[in-house]
Amino acid sequence: MQKRKELYSGKAKSVYTTDDPNCMVLSFRDDTSAFNGEKLEQLEGKGAVNSQFNAFIMQHLEASGIPTHFIQQLSPNETLVRSMEMIPVECVVRNRAAGSICKRLGLEEGKLLEPSTYELFYKDDALGDPMINESHAITLGWASSEQLEQMKALTFSVNECLSSLFFQGGMILVDYKLEFGLYQGEIRLGDEFSPDGCRIWDASTLEKMDKDRFRQNLGNVIDFYKEVGSRLGMTFEG
Ligand code: TMP
Repeated sequence: MQKRKELYSGKAKSVYTTDDPNCMVLSFRDDTSAFNGEKLEQLEGKGAVNSQFNAFIMQHLEASGIPTHFIQQLSPNETLVRSMEMIPVECVVRNRAAGSICKRLGLEEGKLLEPSTYELFYKDDALGDPMINESHAITLGWASSEQLEQMKALTFSVNECLSSLFFQGGMILVDYKLEFGLYQGEIRLGDEFSPDGCRIWDASTLEKMDKDRFRQNLGNVIDFYKEVGSRLGMTFEG
């Protein structure tokens, strides 16, 4: 499938139309940003690593019964996906405290969160992706209450599936963000799952293996992304 017109360019990915209106191409770029675009860099190889990482995870989730937009990997940094109408609500599960919840609630990093917390954010760069609740999403027409229920159930199914996958690789899935869309009226997981949108720690040393390496200038960002992938059984090309 050939890509045709660029529809949209986000902070790390570009979206292209194809000859089939039901399919789009996601092109993963090396651009890396943090703090709502304030810190920006190109990390060589990140696009290819994240695209292949995402393909592996999306296929693993599909095999576990979670519907996604993934169709197939086209090249090291390009993926064919179903065209979806995206819901502008980000779903975040936290198994341990890190990042914004530490600041917001004064929690110590690493604190076990049992049961895991579930948060929603409104996807809007100009507003800095503010935290919202279900009532905001319903009243402002971003999603119906039934859709929000399905998104929550799917987000927790992803937690069960991926926490155990990462644990088998000697890692802790600390938190992650998911985005959903509608394909032919049905909710499916969209966007990407990569170390850019989750936190992963080594289970024994608690070393950070995700985008916090970039945010906190810890170095070797892509080497760690590849290490996470190889512990899960991935091999990378490109
Ligand atoms: P936070 O600690 O910054 O709220 O983020 C929680 C997790 O969700 C972390 O793994 C990063 C991810 N996330 C994104 O990738 N993009 C976002 O816009 C948000 C709100 C969170």
